[in-house]
Amino acid sequence: MCGIFAYTGSNGKNAAKVLLDGLVSLEYRGYDSAGIFIPEAGVIKTPGAVGALRKKVPKNFKGKSGIAHLRWATHGEPTEKNAHPHWSGDKEIWVVHNGIIENWQELRAKLISKGHTFVSDSDSEIIPHLVEEHLKKHKNFEKAALAALNEIRGTFGIAMQYKGEPDKLIAARMGSPIVIGVGKNERFIASDASPILPHTKKVVFLEDGEVAILTPDKHTVLKLNATKIQREPEEIEWNAEQAQKGGHEHFMLKEILEAPLVVEDTMRGRLILNKGTSKLGGLDKVEKKLKEIDRIIIVACGTAYLAGLVGEYMIEEFAGIPVEVELASEFRYRKPVVNKRTAVLAISQSGETLDTLEAIREAKRQNALTLGIVNTVGSTITREDDSGVYNHAGPEISVASTKAFISQLVVLALMTLFLGRQRKMTAAQGKEIARELKKLPGKLKAILENEKAIETLAKKYSHHRDFLFLGRKYNYPVALEGALKLKEISYIHAEGYGAGEMKHGPLAMIDENFPTFAVAPHDSVYEKVLSAIQQVRARKGPVIALTTEGDSEVQKIADDVIYVPQTIEMLSPILNVVPLQLFAYYFAKEKGLNVDRPRNLAKSVTVE
Ligand code: F6R
Repeated sequence: MCGIFAYTGSNGKNAAKVLLDGLVSLEYRGYDSAGIFIPEAGVIKTPGAVGALRKKVPKNFKGKSGIAHLRWATHGEPTEKNAHPHWSGDKEIWVVHNGIIENWQELRAKLISKGHTFVSDSDSEIIPHLVEEHLKKHKNFEKAALAALNEIRGTFGIAMQYKGEPDKLIAARMGSPIVIGVGKNERFIASDASPILPHTKKVVFLEDGEVAILTPDKHTVLKLNATKIQREPEEIEWNAEQAQKGGHEHFMLKEILEAPLVVEDTMRGRLILNKGTSKLGGLDKVEKKLKEIDRIIIVACGTAYLAGLVGEYMIEEFAGIPVEVELASEFRYRKPVVNKRTAVLAISQSGETLDTLEAIREAKRQNALTLGIVNTVGSTITREDDSGVYNHAGPEISVASTKAFISQLVVLALMTLFLGRQRKMTAAQGKEIARELKKLPGKLKAILENEKAIETLAKKYSHHRDFLFLGRKYNYPVALEGALKLKEISYIHAEGYGAGEMKHGPLAMIDENFPTFAVAPHDSVYEKVLSAIQQVRARKGPVIALTTEGDSEVQKIADDVIYVPQTIEMLSPILNVVPLQLFAYYFAKEKGLNVDRPRNLAKSVTVE
């Protein structure tokens, strides 16, 4: 998730100032590098955020229009050369891009064969070159841009500019948000309305598959097939902070609601349906070594550790490799037995968690193959591990991890396909998993449509001080995660337990004031979880249960039921965790707590 901001005006404002001031309000979208292009003045790029860019911009860097960008790396390290804007070979076309171009390698090869040379490792750089190529034929910027946009596949939010028509900007949207600002003798393009709001409240939201052509006094909206669309600007009442949260009250809710897109982004270009496997650049590099490992140790903390527990079940069942999951803080201080046939896999959203980093360093000292599943490109873990896979979940702002957890599970499923197909998994098994993965975004959308019902449920139970979460097998870690989410943002006592462990202790706590949240989908342990629910009922404990659509048994024994669509057992945590995240969110909101910044916690734990 990057930040885009572009400006064109005929009212005397200095575009460089407008763009630099506006970029600041997009910094929440993550940044590792920043850049600005003004046709009259040139281009400036730098690693770091807006402050670093501002320092490099000289006083005489001025103009009437321009494009600017904050990058949050997906392809290519966060360096100056990979920062945006990118330009065409003849330096006439300039582009800023948010998203992932799926067919960039194919297009890049085609362009190289036509004589183009590339200066960065970024997928985005192919866009200006493609427009340049079409401009040779069409001799018209708008036509060339449309032709190029029709050739790229993937997600994009784009702003582009042509030196030959410097007051014109072209925007396009497919999966990554784009807002057009409509001012007096000025027009804007941005990733959200926050940088536009100091100038105008009139905006046009582009839909997927739409393009906008802007000059200071006019904007036209088109479909990718060039048909015109009539869209009147709307007046928004949000302030800048609300705009950053997409109109939601908290980042946590925005991030939970992003789950369908996150799953698509994490899988983009990586799932090979017809072969029942996955293509993960990071693992390709160590493919031979991975064939030789006889054990995996997953090291992580908190929510990432719980994703690791699901990964253990996936990899052992479908790849047949023994897996252990260890709290990174434990692993680093005991004397783990590790050798060169062990892969130590770190899972970390931030890539900076000190305990996880130290666990990787310890594994390296012992000659293990070190791998990472990390969301933040260029973070310390990604620089120190041997190889790894990025989540592509976009920056997570809320302290409580939600969308990163979902993407960690998706990467683990993709890794399972990769490792499994290297070993005992048949093509038919691989294809079934791949097909089910592909259906997840649609099923997540259906779950999120139920948001209101979960809000009502959270309100109903919000006076309770204690909660037990139960789950079994693949959904045991989901129960642990449900409890962790509730305690970290609601400050109440919540315990997660394996449903089979109930009678070994926790059952003693249950009475009419101690509710249980049971995760009971239709899987191989469904009956076992049902019987745990019955044990709770027999002690008069209130029960909320999550089960699969079409179930008729759970409602007979639970007080409240949440239904989720069916999927295969190994992928069910990806669906089941979402209602638990929403439950925790609305529970904390009902208590009036600071959901995004829970007390005593930090987003990135870089101390012991
Ligand atoms: C819980 C949460 C934490 C993190 C943990 C690891 O919602 O966010 O438990 O999961 O601090 O952080 P990363 O993944 O950055 O290593």
